[in-house]
Order: sequence, then C-alpha cells, then structure tokens
Amino acid sequence: MANKILFILFIGLVLISFTWNRNHLVQKWPSPIHPKTAFASESSLELGRALFYDPILSADSSISCASCHLSYTAFAHVDHPTSHGIGDKIGKRNAPSLVNLAWRQQFHWDGGVLSLTGQAVNPLTHPDEMGNSLEVILKKLQENDRYRKAFKLIYQEEGIQTWMLLDALQQFTISLVSKNSFYDKVMQNQVNFSTQQANGMTLFEQHCNRCHTAPLFFSNRFESNGIQIDSTDMGRFEITGLNADIGKFRVPTLRNISHSFPYMHDGRMKTLKEVLAHYGKQLHLSDIQQKDLIAFLKTLTDTNFLMNPQFQYHTLNQ
Ligand code: HEC
Ligand code: HEC
Repeated sequence: MANKILFILFIGLVLISFTWNRNHLVQKWPSPIHPKTAFASESSLELGRALFYDPILSADSSISCASCHLSYTAFAHVDHPTSHGIGDKIGKRNAPSLVNLAWRQQFHWDGGVLSLTGQAVNPLTHPDEMGNSLEVILKKLQENDRYRKAFKLIYQEEGIQTWMLLDALQQFTISLVSKNSFYDKVMQNQVNFSTQQANGMTLFEQHCNRCHTAPLFFSNRFESNGIQIDSTDMGRFEITGLNADIGKFRVPTLRNISHSFPYMHDGRMKTLKEVLAHYGKQLHLSDIQQKDLIAFLKTLTDTNFLMNPQFQYHTLNQ
C-alpha cells in the first residue's frame, strides 16, 4: 500500500516537472501582498464601484476615477500621454492600468505611495486631478441618501468618515484581477501558442522576464529600461534622494499591454512597435524578433477582464 502511494506520488512529480519544462514561464501565482480588509463584502464592493464611477468626488463634479482609468483599456487612460484632470489640467504622469494591485508593494511610478487604501487621497485632493478636499467630499456624500444609507449599512456607524471612503474605493480597485489571458490558457494546456508567439515567449524569457516577471509580468523593483531621462521627472530619486535612483521607475505590468497605451511613465511612446524599436536597439533584436515579441505580448490580453460587466459603470440603487 505504502509503495503504491509512493509510486503515484512519483508519477505525479514527473508529470509536474514535465509541464514545468514545457512551459518555462509557468510560475505559481504568488500570495497577494495586500489582504482583503475586514469590511470586504459584496455590498462594499458595489459601493466602491459606484464611487469609482461618480464625479461627485471631484470639486466641480466633472471628473471621476474612471475619467482617467477606463475599464476597456485595463483602467489606463489612452487619449492623453499624461493624465487629464479637472479644468482640463494636465498632470505630469501617464495614468497606469489598475490590474492585480493586490500584488504591488508600492504604488505610483516612483513608488511614493505605500498603501493602496491611502492612495486614493492623492487623486481626490490633487489640484490637477479631482481638486477636492476630504471635508467637502464627506459632506457631499453625507447629504446623498443613497451613499448615507450604503455607508451605514456596511460600516455600521453613523456619519461617513475618511477611512470608510478609502476602504470602499480600495474594495473595488483590489478586485481588478486579470489572470485569464490567452497566455494563461496556454499555461493551463487549454490552447497552444502559434510558432510566432512561442518564439516571442522564448525571447521574452531571455530579455524581459527578469524585470517583467511572469505570472504578474511586473516586479516590485525600480529599474531603468534605458529611455532618455527628462529633468522634470527623476522617478524613484524623487522619493529616496539617492543618485543611484535617478531615472528609475517601477516596473509596470505587461498584462493587457496592447490595450493600455500610451507607454512609459510619461506616455512618450504610442505603440508597442515604438516600444520594441527602443528595446530592439538596446538588445540588438531583429525586426522579426521584435514582431515575435509583440505577438507574445498580445497573448497577455484578457478579454474577460476588459469586458467584465462587474467592472463597468455602476450606481447604487435607491
Ligand atoms: C486626472 C487623472 C486621474 C484621476 C481622476 C484618477 N487617477 Fe489614479 N492615477 C493617475 C495617475 C497619473 C497615476 C500615476 C501617478 C504617479 O505615478 O505619480 C495614478 C495612479 C493610481 C493608482 C496606483 C496604481 C499603481 O499601480 O501604482 C491607483 C490605485 C489609482 N490611481 C486609483 C485611482 C482612484 C481610486 C481614483 C479616484 C478616487 C483615481 N485613481 C483617479 C491618474 C488619475
Ligand atoms: C531592467 C528591467 C527591464 C527589462 C529587462 C525590460 N523592461 Fe520593460 N520596462 C521597465 C521599466 C522600468 C519600464 C517603465 C519605464 C518608464 O516608464 O520610464 C518598462 C516599460 C515597459 C513597457 C511599457 C509599459 C507601460 O505600461 O507603459 C513595455 C511594453 C515594456 N517595458 C516591455 C518590455 C519588453 C518587451 C522587454 C524585453 C524586450 C522589456 N520590457 C525589458 C523595465 C524593464
């Protein structure tokens, strides 16, 4: 009996290592860094989602979180290189996609924000984004019947407070998980790569994976990918003041990358072709190799995520 169990275990291990070798990039999905909060529930998620889509949060009720983070583009902002906020003000950075945030150690291109919950204070109060104050926002929400009821139901306290607003928003942003792309299906042996995509994956492993590490396709490190530094944005240096950090930015995710253009912290590149031309020059990649890499990057598109009705516009019921 014991021998039989050992034999079955052995065969199991052989099978696992076989699949591992065949799909080099297969890696166990790591545990999230940010756990769900105590208030996580269906209704808090719905509240967070309604807030995310509600311009009531901005000073003149013109801008919502979704104005800069659109569901169809993986919650990035595609019609301006850098963010476009209240009163047509243009910020200095490209709005990143909001994907798999529970696995991020720090937020923003320079890692200047350590908590996803606290992050929302920045856009809510930034003069170039939503330009509001927390006092005014809480007052407006308190005067709104639907929000007053929803907050009370979830947080069981009279009166809406800042931490509740931030918690609710975070319930929604942390729920934006993308792990069902064509690539993921290949890794689960449901479909196969074309030759071009497979070649692209091999090149990706050689040249890209050490920074954009599978299966998240980002890493919680700050790196320079060789693009020209612009003196108006020194990246990680702005947080640490260390010379070694000049021009370093956090490694962005490549999931849904074909939808979250433009690229880089300042949106300087409009197409993946431009991005690959940049890396191609550095790494001596031929035109064909660049095309293969783009074919592989396109397999990271998760249509279920981009079209998920649960991530789209929502208001609270009466
Ligand atoms: C005017 C455009 C704009 C609006 C409105 C906006 N954001 Fe953003 N968002 C950005 C930009 C730009 C960044 C990157 C900032 C940086 O790196 O300095 C960002 C970063 C983030 C991040 C960090 C993502 C990461 O991976 O580091 C989160 C989370 C986020 N925004 C959520 C929100 C929420 C929630 C709201 C509404 C309360 C919101 N944003 C409103 C432009 C916007
Ligand atoms: C040394 C680490 C490193 C390596 C290796 C690397 N990248 Fe990057 N990549 C970065 C960083 C950092 C950024 C963000 C740079 C910025 O915004 O200034 C980035 C940005 C990108 C972007 C734009 C993402 C966005 O949302 O704007 C794409 C696409 C990309 N890399 C693809 C690749 C490909 C393909 C390879 C391999 C050929 C590769 N990278 C190799 C670090 C790296």
